[in-house]
Amino acid sequence: ASRKLLLLPGDGIGPEAMAEVRKLIAAINENFGSGFETEEGLVGGSAYDAHGAAISDADMTKAMAADAVLFGAVGGPKWDAVPYDVRPEAGLLRLRKDMQLFANLRPAICYPALAASSSLKPEVVEGLDILIVRELTGGVYFGEPKEIIDLGNGQKRGIDTQVYDTFEIERIAGVAFELARTRQNRVTSMEKRNVMKSGVLWNEVVTQAHKAKYSDVKLDHMLADAGGMQLVRWPKQFDVIVTDNLFGDMLSDVAAMLTGSLGMLPSASLGAPDAITGKRKALYEPVHGSAPDIAGQGIANPIAMIASFAMCLRYSFNMAAEADRLEAAISAVLNEGLRTKDILSAGMTEVGTAQMGDAIISK
Ligand code: NAI
Ligand code: MG
Repeated sequence: ASRKLLLLPGDGIGPEAMAEVRKLIAAINENFGSGFETEEGLVGGSAYDAHGAAISDADMTKAMAADAVLFGAVGGPKWDAVPYDVRPEAGLLRLRKDMQLFANLRPAICYPALAASSSLKPEVVEGLDILIVRELTGGVYFGEPKEIIDLGNGQKRGIDTQVYDTFEIERIAGVAFELARTRQNRVTSMEKRNVMKSGVLWNEVVTQAHKAKYSDVKLDHMLADAGGMQLVRWPKQFDVIVTDNLFGDMLSDVAAMLTGSLGMLPSASLGAPDAITGKRKALYEPVHGSAPDIAGQGIANPIAMIASFAMCLRYSFNMAAEADRLEAAISAVLNEGLRTKDILSAGMTEVGTAQMGDAIISK
């Protein structure tokens, strides 16, 4: 089968991390005949330098036609002063918007070799494997009215509006329930129904969707603030967490820190299934940014980018066994003591970006 990928390395360490995925894809094609076809494009500051936009229409067209987009990172001091609508982040925002990526998947996995160096007690994080499913295109970041108004008495008022419609809650709940079936079959839905009308509706719609189509999955509800507390206290109680845009933004950052370095964390953003082919548009990216402080030195950790490709195998190509093997290869290399600088601890062997990539590929 042909599998079409668009690679958008971006800026800073984005291209350095993507280089390792490019080698990995070539090795997979060569050894397993997997038939991945890659195209390349520009995004962020590098796209602005080339053609004055954070992503060109031509590359946007490639993104829409690809089975999946692999995205590195964008931004850096070089572009701090460019006009707002062509700033590097605008490239990612356009991809999310045009591809209608409403479901953001943020796993928090603790590799056994790194449990001891976590900021939490090893027994709290060892073997941790949770998935936060955040609604990405609705809620208070987008709801109208959204403005600052002058009240005329020396006072101003800042307004953001939390809005969720039934269909938006239904489709994100559907993603969470379906993913849970491939995992431990448990979903925890988080909102604040005690103080928010949108939370009441969220709770109702998730409960109804569960009853109608997913009653085989175990469903719990938790208030989002209590959920934050439980995430830090005993994160292993969770399998899949589904929540709105704002709570998901915060809870996924909290969960991220359970597991160590930014250089380890992958993510996926999924759209709705196509009416005819059933395929979802999807973009995979590390959680970290372009890390200008270490760019160009060959020391960036490529694991977040490589683990993002593992998510791509799992969610875009139905290659769960292959994704498991890739994640096991990452784990094995860590068990052998190889570490990039960001995750280095006493007694371990420091390696650069390319050495880490090569070690994972050879596994
Ligand atoms: P950052 O994630 O780029 O870096 C934060 C810290 O973590 C830095 O000290 C960096 O060296 C380290 N770090 C990050 N990834 C690493 C890796 N793979 N290996 C080793 N160390 C790593 O976030 P920061 O510094 O806030 O932003 C830098 C630039 O990146 C800004 O222009 C920002 O706008 C952009 N950014 C882009 C994102 C994206 O493309 N999705 C996301 C976040 C920030
Ligand atoms: Mg955030």
